[in-house]
Amino acid sequence: MARTLNVGMIGYGFMGRAHSNAYHQVAHFFPGEIRPVLKAVCARDEQKVKQFAETWGYESIETDWRRLVARPDIDLVDICTPNNLHKEIAVEAARHGKMILCEKPLAMNSAEGKEMVEAVEKAGVPNMVWYNYRRVPAVTLAKQLIEEGRLGKIFHYRAVFLQDWTISAELPQGGTALWRLDVAAAGSGVTGDLLAHCIDTAIWLNGPITRVTAMTETFIKERKHVLTGKVEKVGIDDACAFLARFANGSLAVFESTRYARGHKALYTFEINGEKASIAWDLHDLHRLSYFDHRDESRVRGWRSIHVTDSDMPYMKHWWVPGLQIGYEHTFIHQVADFLEAIAKGQVAHPTFRDALETQKVCDAVLKSAQTGQWVDVESVDG
Ligand SMILES: NC(=O)c1ccc[n+]([C@@H]2O[C@H](COP(=O)([O-])OP(=O)(O)OC[C@H]3O[C@@H](n4cnc5c(N)ncnc54)[C@H](O)[C@@H]3O)[C@@H](O)[C@H]2O)c1
Repeated sequence: MARTLNVGMIGYGFMGRAHSNAYHQVAHFFPGEIRPVLKAVCARDEQKVKQFAETWGYESIETDWRRLVARPDIDLVDICTPNNLHKEIAVEAARHGKMILCEKPLAMNSAEGKEMVEAVEKAGVPNMVWYNYRRVPAVTLAKQLIEEGRLGKIFHYRAVFLQDWTISAELPQGGTALWRLDVAAAGSGVTGDLLAHCIDTAIWLNGPITRVTAMTETFIKERKHVLTGKVEKVGIDDACAFLARFANGSLAVFESTRYARGHKALYTFEINGEKASIAWDLHDLHRLSYFDHRDESRVRGWRSIHVTDSDMPYMKHWWVPGLQIGYEHTFIHQVADFLEAIAKGQVAHPTFRDALETQKVCDAVLKSAQTGQWVDVESVDG
């Protein structure tokens, strides 16, 4: 019989739903020694949080996160709130000895992130950050191919994350989902929200990033704030492009914007090595493009690998070959890996410490955009 792990989730928006779904599904598809129990969900509006608890099967509710993290019947705290609350909740949850899963980016900046790393490491509690794209089977396959040395020496890494939902000047800032436009809640714009995903994947696949040079732009300078009703300055970066050097000698180009008309969530990356190249596209997430120069020249070309066979990462837990899975499954994979790791006394990644590396790159990017200089990632605080 499986042991239970009582989950207390804070925030019930987009990620609250994605995570709740993962806790529900994980024991069906990845049965293991530990089974999560949806013990409590917390948000400020009592009526709405009651409704959410009923819909998703949480046993109880809280309207103050401090009460939730102090409850003796909660084993794991899951932070699904805007970025400005991550640090305070995580430090308090660690003080109460809870395991912590925290949404990305780890924090508002690397100084906060460092405090969070110190708190979980001092408390000795398992911790992980939801950089879920690592667990798209095609992306995990890319990791395997690189580790097997199939690409050889890597020369180039190229990533973009493009959206188009903030082009209207009428869109306000602040409040549910729109907190992303409010620098006081988000910390930064596309850098922390979208490029953080690209940077996490890049470091995971290609190793540490050492130096960056960046430019950012805020196209719409003032927006009405939902909470104050006043027109206020916009403090986030609407778009960011940066060049980077990796420790392994390869060069990178990263770009993100919410002003690329026609693109909803176009996250793509391409990696060029001396022997082979790989490319991936979130809009077609179950495929990995692969080009191998060692193929006989007459049949050499880009292959589109349909990542659904049972020998592909995670896929033996799902359907028969040829039937693909999607976005929500990345969260199920992440919970499954976390539960398996704690059952075996191992560490699941990315930990807070891993995510701090991404945070440092984000800080270096923003510093470079401000100063117009190349910035060494290690020179960033935290
Ligand atoms: N891994 C991913 O792909 C991914 C995708 C989207 C968002 N995120 C991250 O997830 C986090 C949440 O984003 P979202 O899109 O779910 O936002 P959202 O606006 O949909 O939900 C935020 C939730 O936090 C709650 N909240 C705000 N202040 C609170 C407080 N003081 N106490 C309790 N609850 C409070 C809100 O009521 C809401 O339920 C952010 O850190 C974001 O960067 C990650």
